[in-house]
This record gives sequence, structure tokens and C-alpha cells, in this order.
Amino acid sequence: MCALPSPEQTNPRNFIVPSQPPEDNVFYPYFESKISLRSSNSSLNRGEIMPGDTSWMKNRYDDLVNQGLDWQLKTLESANAPRCEVNGVKQIMLCANNYLNLTTHPRVINAMIEATMELGAGSGSVRAIAGNMKLHEDAERKVAEFKGVEASLIYSAGYTANVGLIPTLVEKEDVIISDELNHGSIIDGVRLTKASRAVYPHNDMNGLEKVLKEYNGTRRKLIITDGVFSMDGDIAPLDEITKLAEEYDAMVYVDDCHGEGVLGEGGRGIVDHFKLQGKVDFEVGSFSKALGVQGGILAGSDSTRTHALNHSRSWLLSGSQPPGVAAAQKAAIEVLIDEPEHHANLWENTKKFRNELNSLGFDTGVSETPIIPVMCGESHIAKSLSKELANRGVMALPIVFPMVARDKARIRCMISAGLTKDDLDEVILAFADSGRSLGLIKG
Ligand SMILES: Cc1ncc(COP(=O)(O)O)c(C=O)c1O
Repeated sequence: MCALPSPEQTNPRNFIVPSQPPEDNVFYPYFESKISLRSSNSSLNRGEIMPGDTSWMKNRYDDLVNQGLDWQLKTLESANAPRCEVNGVKQIMLCANNYLNLTTHPRVINAMIEATMELGAGSGSVRAIAGNMKLHEDAERKVAEFKGVEASLIYSAGYTANVGLIPTLVEKEDVIISDELNHGSIIDGVRLTKASRAVYPHNDMNGLEKVLKEYNGTRRKLIITDGVFSMDGDIAPLDEITKLAEEYDAMVYVDDCHGEGVLGEGGRGIVDHFKLQGKVDFEVGSFSKALGVQGGILAGSDSTRTHALNHSRSWLLSGSQPPGVAAAQKAAIEVLIDEPEHHANLWENTKKFRNELNSLGFDTGVSETPIIPVMCGESHIAKSLSKELANRGVMALPIVFPMVARDKARIRCMISAGLTKDDLDEVILAFADSGRSLGLIKG
């Protein structure tokens, strides 16, 4: 577990703040940028760098490669769909966020095409000046209606929602209290504030209460948590968090990017899942995962929307989304309302897949959602399993240190409603054969 840094220990330039690089087995998921900066320092001797000399970039990249931390991009040559083509090879997609398979839904695609034909490719401005189209507002009203809230505001992405909204909510007199496994976009949002920061151990309510007590006299307290944690697929205990927030007079902010379209009745999200309507101050989501499009969602009260659109720099200072995107966003929500079968299929597939993996003897950790990790232990095992699966036509990528602890490497599977029974059977067979050949499971 991470120790909770006191405000004095908190380095304003980093959020989760040990002054040393992580030790073996310290679960420290968002450290990689720091590792790469550190390791590149040797080549960054400012006095010696000539203007225009970019060799430092190559040195820094070489450091990444040596640590096995560089990104090797895979290229999709088809739509992102359950059956797709990657680097020229046909694969079953098991690592996309396309939970409801709406990326290729005809209604969503047609809405995008029609709006583009009628209203053009771009919006021509930021929303605050000349780029606020009726379509943007229609999409926001549809989100609010679906989620049963007064209002919503759509950002260009979930990332920009977190980075733009969090800094509007606290000032230096205040404190942000954050789960240690929160997503990097939350961490980046927190970095833009002058508030004190405290981190509580993952989903540990005693740890959260301890921090709330410690900061009891502080002016504003903002608790921030992911709704669904993207590495393990577990769910934040939002019911307990809101109780503690009431007791200690704190605000609650949930990033439900992986719960939007997944949790709650018909995919209404984590607040609906726990029936906490009216008890969560800020609910953030994404259109780029289950909803199959792109964009960030803030759902809440009218006054929250007014506040956010007047103060969020990522919203005010960036061009609004093309009409086609706004129309597709609205259509995706309409599909969720009119076609509940996608949500039902997602959960049916999720249960089948997890049960069958478990029956084979695979460890799926603490997953409660369509994010299902297959725990492998050491990084090299996860990498080998991923290769074996690819050879059998399944795209499922390894998640290794420093994204997760050294001994918690895994294959992170993400289930889609669009996977047929045959697809799932093929994937299970691939796991069984690969797992046996690597000695991960018996039989
Ligand atoms: C928990 C969480 N929050 C925010 C984001 C960013 O969402 P978007 O892709 O819409 O920018 C992600 C994306 O991976 C995420 O997993």
C-alpha cells in the first residue's frame, strides 16, 4: 500500500509523490513518465545541447527501448469491431473499450454521415464563441435525460473533462483526496491545482476516513475516484464513499469512463448502479468506450454545468466537436435507450467468459465488470501468453510493470457485446491451449 503523503511531503509537480523511483513490487501504475525522465537525465546536459540538436530525443527513446517501455503501435486495417484485421492479420479483438460494439452501429454511423452532409466537417470555432451548435446542446440534453440529471456538458474527451474540470473545483485552501489507483487523467487534472493532495489506499474506506479526519478543518474537500478501475475491472464502493463524504462534508467526484454504458440499469453508469442519484457532485464519463464515439461527459446539476462551462479551460479554449461527432453521440445514447439488448449481451458475454476462464483454472483477480484481467505473475509470462494468443487469432495485450506491480503482470481482456458465442468459444479455446503450453493451467 502507498503511504499517505502529508501536505508537506506533497510535491506540487507530481501527484502520487514518492521522491524515489518505485521499488520492486510497489504497485505504482502511473510512474512510467517519471521513470523515463529520470533515465534520460544522463543525456540531458543542457549546457552541451546545441540549438536544433535533437539527439536527446533519440537517447531518451533508447532508454525507453532498453527498459522495454516503448510503445510498438499496432495498425488496424478494419473497423474496431470484434472481428478485425490488425497488421494484416485477422484477429478477434479482446482489448478494445468498445464494450457495446457501437463503433459500427448503423444508427450511429448514419447520424454522423447525415449531420456531416448537412452541417459540414467541422464546427469552425470554440463553443463559447461561434461553435455552439444546436446538435451539441441536443446531445447534452439526451445525456441528461438518459442519466436522470438536470444537465450535462460534453467535453472533447474524458481526458479533457478531468483536466479541465478538477482545477475549477479547488483552490490552495482546499484538499483533493484521491484513490491511489486513479487514472492518469485525474492525476494530470490534480497537477493543475494548487490544492493539497492526499492519496488513500485503493478502495480502502478506513484509509479514506483517516485522511478525511486528518483534513477535517480544511475548507473544501474533494474526494475523487475512478468508478471502474481500468487495470483490475473492480468497482469503487461509491455508496460508502458518499456516506463518508456526507459525514465529513466533502464533495464526491467519480470518473466513470469505464462504467458509462456498462454499469447501472441499461448502462446508466455507476451512480445509477448504487442508486445514489443526487449524492454525487460530479460524474464524469466518456463517449469513447462503451458508447463507441468520442467525447467526455459531465453529468450533474444546472449549476454544475454553468460553472464548468464558464471555468474549464480545456472546454473554453478548444474547438468544439464536429457536428458529425455530436450527432453520433446523441444517436449512441438513443441506441442505449431503444436497444437494451446490447447492454444485456455485454453482461451475458462477461459472465460466460469469466466463468469459463475460472473453470479452466485462470485467475481473473478482483474483476466485477467486462474488464477481466488474466493474472500471469511475471511480465515475461504475460508477454508470452499474449504472443500465443495472437498466434491463435486473439488480440489481447499484456499489462506489465510499471503499469502494474512487477508480480501482477496480466493479460487485460475487455469484453464486447458484439462477440458471438462462437467468437467467445474460439477465444476460450485459444486461452486453454496457450495457458497449457505455457504451464499456466493444468490439463
Ligand atoms: C478512467 C479513465 N478516465 C478517463 C479516460 C479518458 O477518456 P477519453 O478516452 O474519453 O479521453 C480514460 C481512458 O482510458 C480512463 O480509463
